[in-house]
Amino acid sequence: MRPPEHARGPAPHVLIAALTLLGAVAVVAAVLLAMRGDSEPGVGRALGDPAPRVTPTPVVLSAPESVEIEDTLPRAATPASGGQDDPPRTWSLEPAVSPWVIVNKLRPLDPQDYVPSDLRDVAGTSQQLRAEAADAMEAMMAAASDAGASFRISTAYRSYGFQESLFAAYQRDWGTARAETFSARAGHSEHQTGWAADVYESNACKVKACFADEAAGRWVAAHAWEYGFILRYPEGKQEITGYRYEPWHVRYVGTELATWMREHDVATLEEAFSLPAAPDYP
Ligand code: DAL
Ligand code: ZN
Repeated sequence: MRPPEHARGPAPHVLIAALTLLGAVAVVAAVLLAMRGDSEPGVGRALGDPAPRVTPTPVVLSAPESVEIEDTLPRAATPASGGQDDPPRTWSLEPAVSPWVIVNKLRPLDPQDYVPSDLRDVAGTSQQLRAEAADAMEAMMAAASDAGASFRISTAYRSYGFQESLFAAYQRDWGTARAETFSARAGHSEHQTGWAADVYESNACKVKACFADEAAGRWVAAHAWEYGFILRYPEGKQEITGYRYEPWHVRYVGTELATWMREHDVATLEEAFSLPAAPDYP
C-alpha cells in the first residue's frame, strides 16, 4: 500500500534543488564573513586560509592622545645649550603627567578636565597624589614627624569640578580680582595634576601665611627639597607665579630639579626654565 500523499518524502529532484540552494547560501555567508575581516583583524580571513588566532581587541582601538601620554613619561627634548648653570632638562614641561609640568595662569592643563592616571591615597590621610609624589610625601611626613615638626595634608589632588566649586566660593566671598590672587580657575590649578598638596600644622594657620612660622612650616621650607618638593608660591614672587605667598603649598618635582633650584637659588619654576611671568590670565 502506498503511503498517503502528504506523508511521502520529497521527490529526488526537489531534494537536489534544495541542497544546491543551501550550498549557495553557505558560500554567500562565507564571503560576507571574509569581507568583515577587513575591519576586524583576525576574523574571517580569505576562504580556505586557516583563521589566525584572534587576539582580544582592546576596547579602545586607537587610544586618545591623553591616554598615550599617560603611559610614557615625557622626556624633554635635548637642550640646545646645556651650560653649567642651565636647569636639568630631563622631563618635559608640557603634559600634566610630567613631574615638571608647569601650570599657571598662562599655561592651563590640557585637557582642562585632565585626571591623573595613578592617584593613590597618601598613607594616613584621605588625600591623593600621583604614586611617585605620594611616596615622597610619605617619606617627608615621616621625617618631619621625627624632627618634631609633624604636619597634615589639607588638600592634595583636586578634580576640575572641585576646583571649580572652590574658586566659585572664593569669588563669591572675595570678588574675582581678589580670589585670583590665591585661587586658580578650574583647569589652571596644579592641584589637578596630582603633584601638589597644601599642608598644615594647626587649624589656626591652615592655608595662612602664619604656617611659615610654625615648626612644620619652618621644617618644610628647609627640608622639602630633600624629598623632591618645592614651595611653588614663594614670598615676593606674585608677579611671576600669579599668586600670593603660600608657604603651605608644596609641589613635587623630584630631587634632581628641587636640588638644582636650591643650589642655584632659583625660587620659581617660571624662572628656572625662563618662561614668561604669569601674573594674570590672558
Ligand atoms: N592656591 C593655588 C594657586 C591653587 O588654587 O591652585
Ligand atoms: Zn595649594
